[in-house]
Amino acid sequence: MTVATDDPNAATYTIQDGIAWVRFNRPDKRNCMSPNLNRRMGEILDELEYRDDFGVLVLTGEGSAWSAGMDLKEYFRETEARGLGATRQAQREAYGWWRRLRWYNKPTIAMVNGWCFGGGYGPLFACDLAIAADEAQFALSEINWGILPGGGATKVVVDLIPMRDAMYHALTGELIDGQKAAEWRLVNESVPLASLEARVRELAGILLKKNPVALKATKDAVRRVKEMTYDNAEDYLIRAQEAANSYDNDGRKEGIKQFIDDKTYKPGLGTYDISKQTA
Ligand code: ACO
Repeated sequence: MTVATDDPNAATYTIQDGIAWVRFNRPDKRNCMSPNLNRRMGEILDELEYRDDFGVLVLTGEGSAWSAGMDLKEYFRETEARGLGATRQAQREAYGWWRRLRWYNKPTIAMVNGWCFGGGYGPLFACDLAIAADEAQFALSEINWGILPGGGATKVVVDLIPMRDAMYHALTGELIDGQKAAEWRLVNESVPLASLEARVRELAGILLKKNPVALKATKDAVRRVKEMTYDNAEDYLIRAQEAANSYDNDGRKEGIKQFIDDKTYKPGLGTYDISKQTA
């Protein structure tokens, strides 16, 4: 059996204007996720997380795909042939970078430029926000080749879309386009492919003006409280804000000052000027 050699370019990144553009980069394989790609993604997320030369991470794909899911040859067939240990390791590496992304230190946007299948729903869900091209195509295609949607994909659709639609999607394996994905709330919105990057840059620009400590606290809170009772959530949010204060005790004070004393902005209508914050 030939096992594919590691390609350091299976995932790549560039940083520009405060945005880290992380790319699935196996366009000839429709960006399906091999163990090597998953390893590279893990390394890239490690390299980038605490750098201060960007504030928003965008995950997108080279070529016609966002990601055609798991690599049926390298992730499934070749890995299974090497036994349970290899299978578990491949799962750890894949699930590991998706988990890392779910709790990433910066806000993240999935820019879904094309095909998005099966295992691709893991990183899709991991991104805080998702903007798709109208032309993008999504499916839980697992059923089409005889497995259930694993790797979190079933959980993703049940968490994001209504039960009837989730069930239909999982049982039929039928494609939906970007607009349908937006209607189902699998993504925030869908725009023509020609305007996709511009819309994502615009959204990233909004986030880049916000207090980064508050962004991290907020994205974590939105994910955490979903599983909590109201009382637990109330308590968690008090503690989470107090923990955020220990990293950034001046942000909210500056936010209050610019509204109440300086009268330079209204929080209901925009963001305070974080460049004036001293600490
Ligand atoms: N696993 C392994 N190889 C893949 C995968 C995949 N998921 N997706 C694409 N490829 C490979 C093809 O085998 C082909 O390789 P080759 O050039 O060596 O023959 C190459 O990528 C290009 O794929 P084509 O099928 O020729 O591209 P096309 O644009 O015509 O079709 C499409 C794109 C629809 C995405 C098709 O490739 C496809 O159906 N891929 C599988 C999608 C899928 O069901 N993924 C698994 C989801 S389930 C899970 O992730 C657990």
